[in-house]
Amino acid sequence: MNRASPLLAIGLLAACSGRQSPLAPAGDQAETLHQLFLLALAVCGIVYLVVVAALVWSLMRRGRDEDRDGAMRGLNRGLWATGIGIVLGVTILIVGSFLADRALFATRGEDALEVRITGHQWWWRIEYRVGGTARWIETANELHLPRGRTTRVLLGSADVIHSFWVPNVAGKIDMIPGRRNVLDLTPRQSGWFRGQCGEYCGMQHAHMAFDVKVEEPAQFEAWLARQSRMARPVGDSRGMHGQAVFARTCSACHAVRGTTASGRAGPDLTHVGARRSIAAGTITMSRGALQGWIAQPQALKPGTSMPAIPLAPADADAVAHYLAGLR
Ligand code: CUA
Repeated sequence: MNRASPLLAIGLLAACSGRQSPLAPAGDQAETLHQLFLLALAVCGIVYLVVVAALVWSLMRRGRDEDRDGAMRGLNRGLWATGIGIVLGVTILIVGSFLADRALFATRGEDALEVRITGHQWWWRIEYRVGGTARWIETANELHLPRGRTTRVLLGSADVIHSFWVPNVAGKIDMIPGRRNVLDLTPRQSGWFRGQCGEYCGMQHAHMAFDVKVEEPAQFEAWLARQSRMARPVGDSRGMHGQAVFARTCSACHAVRGTTASGRAGPDLTHVGARRSIAAGTITMSRGALQGWIAQPQALKPGTSMPAIPLAPADADAVAHYLAGLR
């Protein structure tokens, strides 16, 4: 056993629970998939044990069988048993996956909350439909879901194929340019979870993550109401200076609703200061982290569309202060 093996074993065990694991289901769809996984594990486990037992049995009997006819009869019985076993195992898996598929895509009435998510290299545009109207509220890289209610997620891509995956809540599904895929999410446990792009989509695929917060319906509604508001920047002089620098330097790519910034190339930053992380789950949100990200995005996430912004130290400090205050 080499030195890395115990570490690997600990890592694999640690992966069984936590906020990004299909083995710790926290929603109806994840539960369905977890049960399907356990069924497949049981069928494959039984097949493995039978094969190993048959192998051991034949090795132990090797050379002891003088009676050729008896051996042929044994072989025939073994072949029959194998055939029946294969048909049985495959039938169980087919029925299990058919039922799981039905459960995953069962419609849950008209009450579903609608969210549109678009994959970009390498971030997530997230839009919430306002109660059956044609109006959508935009945010990015942080998905909030009400506990106990189904959210219907409409998935698309602006560039290459990505894949939406929050393992604790549901299985993954591809986000394909020119196509809308649909996924229902019905979370049952509140808390923070982590979503991750599940399809290799370029150099920063690993840094295409997002935070997911499942909260009580009343809390969720309050959050959505805050998101739907225009930005309310901190009104101190440093914040006002930051807003002016931002409007001059960043507004071609980023929108802050309620100000002149209305770019659509990058994430909407209207309430960015209230988010948990920066650059699609790459670094934890703080004023200092924002300043570092603005100064050196290519060092933190090489290949990102965000260019390094050469700002004077006082301007960079003011912009970070302004953004951190957008809550
Ligand atoms: Cu997007 Cu991988």
